[in-house]
Amino acid sequence: SEYDLLIKGGTVVTGVDVIACDVGINGEQIAAIGTNLTGARTIDASGLLVMPGGVDSHCHIEQLEPDGSIHEESFGTAARSAFAGGTTTVIPFAPQFKGEPIGAHLPDYRARAQKSPIDYSLHQMVTDPSEAVVFNELPAIAAGGVGSFKVFLTYDPLHVDDGQYISVLEAAKRAGAVVCVHCENYEAIRWRSEQLLKDGKTQPAAHAWSRPKVVEREATYRAIALAELVDTPIHIFHVSCAEVAEEIARAQARGVKVTAETCPQYLVLSGSDMDRPGKEGAKYMCSPSPREAADHAGLWAMIRRGVLDVLSSDHCGYSFAGDKGKWLNGPDVDFTRIPNGIPGLAARLPLIFSEGVVKGEIDLPTFVRLTATNPAKRFGLHPRKGTIAPGADADLVLWDRERKVSITNARMQHTIDYTPYEGIEVTGWPVKTIARGRVVMEDDEVTTEDGRGLFLKSARTSAN
Ligand code: URP
Ligand code: ZN
Ligand code: ZN
Ligand code: ZN
Repeated sequence: SEYDLLIKGGTVVTGVDVIACDVGINGEQIAAIGTNLTGARTIDASGLLVMPGGVDSHCHIEQLEPDGSIHEESFGTAARSAFAGGTTTVIPFAPQFKGEPIGAHLPDYRARAQKSPIDYSLHQMVTDPSEAVVFNELPAIAAGGVGSFKVFLTYDPLHVDDGQYISVLEAAKRAGAVVCVHCENYEAIRWRSEQLLKDGKTQPAAHAWSRPKVVEREATYRAIALAELVDTPIHIFHVSCAEVAEEIARAQARGVKVTAETCPQYLVLSGSDMDRPGKEGAKYMCSPSPREAADHAGLWAMIRRGVLDVLSSDHCGYSFAGDKGKWLNGPDVDFTRIPNGIPGLAARLPLIFSEGVVKGEIDLPTFVRLTATNPAKRFGLHPRKGTIAPGADADLVLWDRERKVSITNARMQHTIDYTPYEGIEVTGWPVKTIARGRVVMEDDEVTTEDGRGLFLKSARTSAN
């Protein structure tokens, strides 16, 4: 039989195999993988890798902040950036603010998401787990297909205390959801920050000094211990170093249901990037803080051991210029007031490919597992997303493993006015991105259509 679209002559990479074969697509789905297939239309993939489109399971898109502002990266611009970098599925966050039910903002967020050009699922942030939230709202939200709740153990005014965290763990356990945790100790950061400000240390680099590794390590151990107590699966976000991953490894070894991600910033950037003149260092400011170059190797080792098995971007863009962004009101604003987060949707796959596959840290199937298969599995989107198999959505990235590119902000195609990866040379670059059977990026030219993205229900809960 003849397929609508044939990806011919490429090297197909899945989470387990690397095979020279064709991919036959009918409509929006993969219909066959095999040899000597024929198609009404053919894309020549000879010399290219054919991989599942990336699944970015942690990114902040058009997110409402407690001060009423909305993240600059809209679903429209995030989709452009994602497609530019070979990613075809994103999982952003629906907000909740203290003193309010989740329902105060969820309908608005869902309405915004309906304009998404890229397929998406959702995490539900929980900042105020009142009885009504725990017993009425979260069960209903999970039944509607949201399979993960996100809590922050630090950040004003988002953080939950241990009792509130336990309530969310209980709600998740009943709903079949996983709890994603931002692990840093709130009081420790507050204490260190006050000391630093008293000593006149206001510059961006003080962000790293305000939250050393032990601050993350303590919160990670506590998050794990309480999850162990309640017996709820948790997923630790943005692990910054091997010392923190060690707590996760110890818990996994004793059978605790804990998994974890890291992000390119912890494998590429370092705390000293924040030690640049003036406010320049703010461009690298995220939480947990990037550690040092000497920490990168230990993190790769934890990835190879499988302790960290997801690589997300934690794309959380604030432009450098402008009074809402990193610059805020000029050079004198202290580090505690600069928004945390860096953009990375488009850079994720190229950085991990170049630093990981090309430099010999990981093999090709591991690259696919980290960037697509495992995040899809963790959040209940597999096998529709994250793999190349008959019946899966035809989400593919065609990859030139030899192409050398110098990262620039323009190439990222996001709305944020900078990239912390400016000037970094990578080897390996996406040349075509296909989302549900449609070419959405070809030689850096991105095409998006508002509203084409589908809301993907997580199969973790009873929704499907
Ligand atoms: O600094 C960061 N990571 N900002 C994004 C929000 C979060 O903590 O994930
Ligand atoms: Zn509100
Ligand atoms: Zn976080
Ligand atoms: Zn985040």
